[in-house]
Amino acid sequence: MNITRVARVLRDCQPEEEVEVRGWVRTIRAKPAFSFIELNDGSSLKNLQIVVDAAVDGYEESIKQIGTGASVAATGTLKESPGKGQRIEMHAATLRVIGTADAETYPLQKKRHSFEFLREIAHLRPRTNTIGAVARVRNAVTASIHNFFQSRDFVYVHTPIVTASDCEGAGEMFQVTTLDLTRLAQMKTEIDYSQDFFGKPSYLTVSGQLEAEIYATSMGDCYTFGPTFRAENSNTSRHLAEFWMIEPEMPFYELDDNMRLAEEFIRSVVTDVLANCSEDMEFFNLRIDKTLLETLKNITDNEFIRLPYTEAVEILEKSGKKFDYAVEWGRDLQSEHERFLTEEHFKQPVILFDYPRTIKPFYMRVNDDGKTVRAMDVLVPRVGEIIGGSQREERYDVLVDRMKECDVEPDDYWWYLDLRRYGSVPHSGFGLGLERLVQLVTGMQNIRDVIPFPRTPKNAEF
Ligand code: 4AD
Ligand code: MG
Repeated sequence: MNITRVARVLRDCQPEEEVEVRGWVRTIRAKPAFSFIELNDGSSLKNLQIVVDAAVDGYEESIKQIGTGASVAATGTLKESPGKGQRIEMHAATLRVIGTADAETYPLQKKRHSFEFLREIAHLRPRTNTIGAVARVRNAVTASIHNFFQSRDFVYVHTPIVTASDCEGAGEMFQVTTLDLTRLAQMKTEIDYSQDFFGKPSYLTVSGQLEAEIYATSMGDCYTFGPTFRAENSNTSRHLAEFWMIEPEMPFYELDDNMRLAEEFIRSVVTDVLANCSEDMEFFNLRIDKTLLETLKNITDNEFIRLPYTEAVEILEKSGKKFDYAVEWGRDLQSEHERFLTEEHFKQPVILFDYPRTIKPFYMRVNDDGKTVRAMDVLVPRVGEIIGGSQREERYDVLVDRMKECDVEPDDYWWYLDLRRYGSVPHSGFGLGLERLVQLVTGMQNIRDVIPFPRTPKNAEF
């Protein structure tokens, strides 16, 4: 017999069908005459109730061995359930214990555990309702992302994880080396990188953008979707040292086209998740954030606000609000400013654009005013910045000047400059942080709880 996933049993199967299910026991109520097992196999928020009669072969022996966390296989007939909140239950014909779980030491008790505690047992936390639901929604989000781009004929490009360039110019890169650090420390000499694996200093990528630009200016619309790494020492609920980023890059797009695509993109993913994960989404709305569905509906139903950075600064200055960080034209906005704009002032997503050139990387197109660049950040309620992007500088001379201004050595980026020498075109793109998107759609407060194994300062367990 084929194994049927619990989600399918609960959703599609009919009374009198015979099925086999396998999974992990959430709870068991054992009695001499019959027992109830709540089985979960990760496919659904709801458990399948299995009724096991004492007449089942080996009943006593099996029931004795089954506690919370044990793995079992059961075959049986589905019946309409008299119980509340479930359409169907299973009456077992056979029950087999696959792996026992010691009730004394099993860390997941029936009570609700704090997310902090669950992070310490990240190897078991996907067995909880919330983290299981996050994993399913994260999966649905990634499928929706690929659908969005594939249905628009974008090409998925795999950009390298190991690189020698610092796209964002922020110097927050993890170095990759095979040099023996202990020996080097003892020798106290200059490091000879020609002896290193790649023959020069190399790092984990902070962004696939520069390579995506190469493909966009050959293949047309494309996107990357992969892990990125930042050695920024920010212990916040929105920063990870390893996170996944989606970076579309489009030739012939100017900033307005870029903003339109970003908005359509977010709206499309939110719409898909609401349609495809309704059970998990209702759970998040009930247990994690009571305003979640309302917030998401606001995103799917309304246009995003578009506002130049300069006007945002004016709004913040006039707001009369006390911020921890001062607002001043020419300074980067802090998360508190971004959240004020999107949560309190506009109460909907906001796209800020045309930022001061001094706070943005070398690759952004310089505006005619000479002071600002064609940058855009998409801000959403509860998360703040979810997307950062720009129109790219396509003019060779201006780009070289900007590189020098940003302490980026043009010779190191000769290949990037070549794109401006041979058939240069206006082009644009952006990067969306997958985990921040999953935070937005689930309402989860801490980014560490929306990635299976978070990497943060001083933490690389599991
Ligand atoms: O704004 P960022 O730094 O933009 C870039 O990397 C561009 N190269 C993208 C592009 O134009 N192709 O990062 C993009 C997004 C942010 O808006 C945020 O959602 C996410 O990546 N992000 C992080 N997410 C989690 N932890 C971190 N430390 C993050 N840093 C950025
Ligand atoms: Mg940014």
